[in-house]
Amino acid sequence: MRKLLVAGNWKMNGSIESAKALAAGLLNEVGDGASYDVAVFPPFVHIPAVAAQLQNSDLMWGGQNVSAHKRGAFTSEVSAEMLLELGCQMVLVGHSECREYGGENNQLVALKFKQALATGLLPVLCVGETLAQREADETESVVWSQIQAVIDLVGMESLGQGVIAYEPVWAIGTGLTATAEQAQQVHQFIRSHLSENDDIIARRMRLLYGGSCNGSNAHALFSMPDVDGGLIGGASLTVTDFMAICQQADALSNGE
Ligand code: PGA
Repeated sequence: MRKLLVAGNWKMNGSIESAKALAAGLLNEVGDGASYDVAVFPPFVHIPAVAAQLQNSDLMWGGQNVSAHKRGAFTSEVSAEMLLELGCQMVLVGHSECREYGGENNQLVALKFKQALATGLLPVLCVGETLAQREADETESVVWSQIQAVIDLVGMESLGQGVIAYEPVWAIGTGLTATAEQAQQVHQFIRSHLSENDDIIARRMRLLYGGSCNGSNAHALFSMPDVDGGLIGGASLTVTDFMAICQQADALSNGE
């Protein structure tokens, strides 16, 4: 049984004070020993404040991106070692906003995945199609090429040590959620393709859904057989909204 993971991508929001308060509020509500996993991805500069709140708890934290390079003359970049030093356990790679605004391509994302894993971070590989690609019936080929690039570079075994987040670009921050059936269709496609490479890894890997997930649709999404939690943007910015999603994860984990 795969444990559900509810992850909050805070994007470029908040202040040190609000990040601290949000982390403290979540810790207070989720507590230790939850039936599901929780992770938050604050902006880099807020990570120390969040880490101070969450250290010695079951809640995890990570960066929203990471350099593909180990260290050196890469102005503005943040290395996996630096994130590790801040107690990060995870890192997002290939978020669609980094692909779109940062010009990150599949090869670069794969290098980031590799660097993160080699340093001891758990990479969350974000994949997903644009609306134009969906309308052109390219969803599966786009999503698979994003995953294949990582397999080509690091192999299936290493991919399997990460998490995949399926985030249809047209659903991110738009209020347009994929229906639970649409999400399941893509998640099932991903898992069955993974299982052609390695069935055990495919069954073990967590596949998150992201894109306007909230307290009202989380239950339907997470109850799909191949949806193992969510990567939450807008609804991860307040304790109330995020906990509304966590409560659904808790209910499902307890068979409700
Ligand atoms: P959203 O963002 O929940 O605001 O749609 C999800 C994400 O980009 O990870």
